[in-house]
Amino acid sequence: MHVPSGADRPHRDFLNIADFSPADTFALLALAERMRVGAYADKPLAGKALAMLFMKSSTRTRMSFEVGAIQLGGTAHFLSPRDVQIGRGEPIGDTARVLSRYVHGIMIRTFAHQDVIELAQYADIPVINGLTDLSHPCQILADVLTVQQHLGDIRGKTVAWIGDGNNMANSWIEAAAHLGFALRLACPAGYDPDEQFLAHAASQGANVQLLRDPREAVANADVVTTDVWASMGQEEEQAKRALAFALYQVDGDLMARARSHAIFLHCLPAHRGEEVTADVIDGPQSVVWDEAENRLHIQKAIMAALMGNVPL
Ligand code: CP
Ligand code: NVA
Repeated sequence: MHVPSGADRPHRDFLNIADFSPADTFALLALAERMRVGAYADKPLAGKALAMLFMKSSTRTRMSFEVGAIQLGGTAHFLSPRDVQIGRGEPIGDTARVLSRYVHGIMIRTFAHQDVIELAQYADIPVINGLTDLSHPCQILADVLTVQQHLGDIRGKTVAWIGDGNNMANSWIEAAAHLGFALRLACPAGYDPDEQFLAHAASQGANVQLLRDPREAVANADVVTTDVWASMGQEEEQAKRALAFALYQVDGDLMARARSHAIFLHCLPAHRGEEVTADVIDGPQSVVWDEAENRLHIQKAIMAALMGNVPL
């Protein structure tokens, strides 16, 4: 049986931030910015289809990929485990090979990152990571687009991550190393980001610091960001995590310690009164609705590049 490697396949995947070179990532952001301001009307997905495999819930990822594919001239097809045979045990590799005969790209949201790698190994078409327990690269590119929309070039900026060392934190770490900005993470002991992401960033000479004190993390930050304390799949840990993260809430006092022009980001969904207070997420420094909108623009740029062969 031939399992194609990433290297000998004629297409690219987007499983993690570093799958696009830094130069391509900035080109992708520039393409997304053209889409954001309405300066892009091409239809590079004309006659093409995206399959969307969702093993977890989604509002933004589903809608932005679906609407984005249609805006680019293509179609998008939502598949949940209740509908597809993967939910009854059909191997991921078989699913990948079958979908490759029907569509031109697969977006997958699931639990184990290894499942996405396996899907990509067997697919003959681009595979896009729409969130795993390990990483959420599409969201981080949307977040970088939002930073650049409000503050200009991300290079040289300082981002403060407060809370869980989760999939979002891991992708922020990867982006910091890749794109050249400083990252200060404040995570409670026991909830650190993935060691391999931290080690890789360190090996790249990235300006990434893991701290315990949120006040230290936000000092001089241009961006303050957080996420839920219990991610999808961790619902039964909610009470334990609420205790562990009690001192990691982003409130007005913490925001006031960042730079005066600092923006607040949250990938959403948010829990007001837990990881963020209502006055912050609904306040003047919050740009979370632009951030949510930017999922559409960055996803379109990713699909245009990977499925529509738009050069970067
Ligand atoms: N931020 C994000 O990925 O949202 P959804 O879970 O709604 O897709
Ligand atoms: N860390 C969150 C992000 C949701 C978009 C989760 O995985 O549930």
